[in-house]
Amino acid sequence: MDKKKATLTVDGTVPIELDVLRGSLGQKELDIRTLGAQGYFTFDPGFTSTASCQSKITYIDGDQGVLLYRGFPIDQLALNSNYLEVCYILLYGETPNLDQFYKFQGSVTNHFVLHEQIHHILRGFCRNSHPMAMLCAMTGALATIYHDSMDVNRKTHRDLTAKRLLAQMPIMASMCYRYSRGKPFIYPRNDFSYAGNILYMMFSSPSDKYVVNPILERALDCILILHADHEQNASTSTIRTVGSSGANPFSCIAAAVASLWGPSHGGANEACLLMLEEIGTVENIPLFLQRAKDKNDSFRLMGFGHRVYKNYDPRAMVMRDICHEVLNHLEVKKDLMEVAMKLEYLALHDSYFIERKLYPNVDFYSGIILQAMGIPSSMFTVIFAIARTVGWIAHWKEMHDEGLKIARPRQLYTGYTRRNFNSKIK
Ligand SMILES: CC(C)(COP(=O)(O)OP(=O)(O)OC[C@H]1O[C@@H](n2cnc3c(N)ncnc32)[C@H](O)[C@@H]1OP(=O)(O)O)[C@@H](O)C(=O)NCCC(=O)NCCS
Repeated sequence: MDKKKATLTVDGTVPIELDVLRGSLGQKELDIRTLGAQGYFTFDPGFTSTASCQSKITYIDGDQGVLLYRGFPIDQLALNSNYLEVCYILLYGETPNLDQFYKFQGSVTNHFVLHEQIHHILRGFCRNSHPMAMLCAMTGALATIYHDSMDVNRKTHRDLTAKRLLAQMPIMASMCYRYSRGKPFIYPRNDFSYAGNILYMMFSSPSDKYVVNPILERALDCILILHADHEQNASTSTIRTVGSSGANPFSCIAAAVASLWGPSHGGANEACLLMLEEIGTVENIPLFLQRAKDKNDSFRLMGFGHRVYKNYDPRAMVMRDICHEVLNHLEVKKDLMEVAMKLEYLALHDSYFIERKLYPNVDFYSGIILQAMGIPSSMFTVIFAIARTVGWIAHWKEMHDEGLKIARPRQLYTGYTRRNFNSKIK
């Protein structure tokens, strides 16, 4: 098949020919790699029109509301898979057979013990530190421990790092939670599922037998699957950028955790729950909708809008069903759910949101579910970080498998032109 070409002419100069690249699902991208050598750079703050890499891991069609992990639709995975199987698929590209799955599971549970030095690091923090701040420091600190897997150029080291991180993120996350409450740390059990272990490590008491609630376990497992990867979002782009210099993988993960913490990214579910609580009752919704539309007001409808989805986020639909299931099961008050559903309905029928294609995103319902499970809002982004760890590692591994090229964007300089220096402090 002939390669498609695009032609760029600037101020009538000789046309520059660019290749048009085609993704496996038909997306078209201009290959601008030759432009720099010809004296031109492209300007795209926030990368709204720029593909920073090629990847086989996750596909999103934002207009159609489609999300595929290695080709598998997210709703099918959420309903019929489990988080560790999804981890295998994201890391290795194929569904595991039973033997492969048990081997993989065993190689993760093999790393279910955290180095004692990490305990000392945690104990140095104030008890009221935000758990994301503690998690960021602890993941970075793993770089001081694992000298045996530091060679990022070796595939076996990269694989070992992947399993260590999958095993130890939930342990560190639940330790952050228990530390802030002065509770003793609990280690995972090999006979519990990945999600079951998170509940066990957060909520069990050393003196009592803990029985994992299967509805909550399944709900948390679904939440982990829905958050496992989302192609080149801010935190994943961060890990690719940091990792592109050949940096230590644990430092890369710490950078990704830091990026995820922001309210425009992983912090949105915490912000969304706080917003729903602030709205309080359905009668107050119009006032908040008005504020969200007012350009002089910094308030935004949290859990609404997405850089890529200009349609209903497919994860939000699954999340809404889980939300109903968990609230019905726990028989808790449904006030926030009522506010959320009415807010969703009114926004989806409001011309401001329709014209801008602003739909509920994955964070709109997740906070309600996590709160109903007894997870405090400061831990919401931490749960997201546990889930996204596999996506970060999958991208980091893929980048290394394909050969590193250091990330070095250019800029449009708008500062002073050249001028002479005269010191004013002499
Ligand atoms: C996710 C988000 C950062 C995407 O931002 P973006 O792609 O850069 O979108 P823009 O900021 O360009 O927004 C486009 C327009 O929609 C408006 N808009 C976007 N999200 C909005 C929201 N949540 N509430 C109100 N208005 C919103 C913007 O003000 C802008 O309006 P304008 O064209 O009149 O200036 C943004 O939608 C947002 O802040 N949402 C709330 C936070 C959230 O839920 N984040 C989780 C993402 S999974």
